[in-house]
Amino acid sequence: MDSPTVVVLGSVNMDLVTTAARRPAPGETVLGSDFATVPGGKGANQAIAAARSGARVRFLGAIGDDTFGAELTATLLDAGVDTTLLRRVDGPSGIASIVVDGTGENSIIVVAGANGQLTELTAAELAAIAAADILLCQLEIPIDTVLTAARHARASGTVVALNPSPVQSLPTELWTAVDLAIVNSLESEQYSVELTQVAHVVRTLGGAGAVYRGEEETELTVAGLPVEVVDTTGAGDAFTGALVATWNQGASTALNWANTAGALATTRLGASSSIPSSAQIAAALTTS
Ligand code: RIB
Repeated sequence: MDSPTVVVLGSVNMDLVTTAARRPAPGETVLGSDFATVPGGKGANQAIAAARSGARVRFLGAIGDDTFGAELTATLLDAGVDTTLLRRVDGPSGIASIVVDGTGENSIIVVAGANGQLTELTAAELAAIAAADILLCQLEIPIDTVLTAARHARASGTVVALNPSPVQSLPTELWTAVDLAIVNSLESEQYSVELTQVAHVVRTLGGAGAVYRGEEETELTVAGLPVEVVDTTGAGDAFTGALVATWNQGASTALNWANTAGALATTRLGASSSIPSSAQIAAALTTS
C-alpha cells in the first residue's frame, strides 16, 4: 500500500526537561536529579512519529532565530520530515518547561514563542495542504490558523485529523471540518459533546490501550502493552503520528500500530527522542 502524504501544521518547541522524584507542590522547592534539552512540540513530535511510521511528511510551522531553532530543524530533517516550508521568524523558538517524576508522569508549561507567529497561511502552505492525503493539527498554534487549514483541507478533499491538545474552547466550524479526532481521557471528557460531531474518534487510555469509535457506532478496542514506563512525555504524539501514517490501512491496523508506538515511546526519556521506528514497532507487534 502506498505511504500517505501527511502535512502536519503545528508547534515545534525545545523541551527543557527536569527529572525529580516527585513534582513540586505550589510554593515548594524540590531537588531534581537530571536536566536535558530535548526537541519537542506536539506538531514536530507527531510529524516525526508519522515519518518514522513510513509516511511522507511535510511540516508547516515556525522556529525562532535562536540556536534552539537550528537544532529543532535538524531533528525534523534527521527524521526525514520535509521542512522546505518551515518558517524562521524573528524572536525566540517555542519552549516547554517539563518536570518528569519518578513514576514517569509529567507536568508541562508551553511558551509559544515563534509558534504564536503563525497567524496566517501562505499560498504555498495552502497548496501543500490541498495536495496532501491527510492534514494533522494540534492546538499549540493560533486557533484561527488551524481553522483556516482545516477548512481548506476539507474543501480540497484532504482528510482532517485533529489532536485537540492542549484543551481549549474551539469554534464549532472547526469540529465540523474534522474527520478524525485523537484524544486522551482528559480531552475526551472535556470535549464530550463536540466529539459527537466527529465521524472517527480515537481515545487513548494511557497504559490501558485505546478505543476507536467510527461511523454507525462501530467500536474497536486494543489493550495496553506491558512496558516499563520511564517518561510518558510525547507518548500521545507518538501514538497520533503513527495512527495517521497507517490510517489508510484501516482503523484496526492503525489502532494496533499506534498503540504499540505509544507504549514504546513511554520506555525512553523525552518526546522526539522516544519515538520508535517502523522496525521497532513491527518487532514489538510480533512479540506481543
Ligand atoms: O506532547 C508533548 C509535547 O507537549 C512536548 O514535547 C512539549 O513541547 C509540548 O508541546
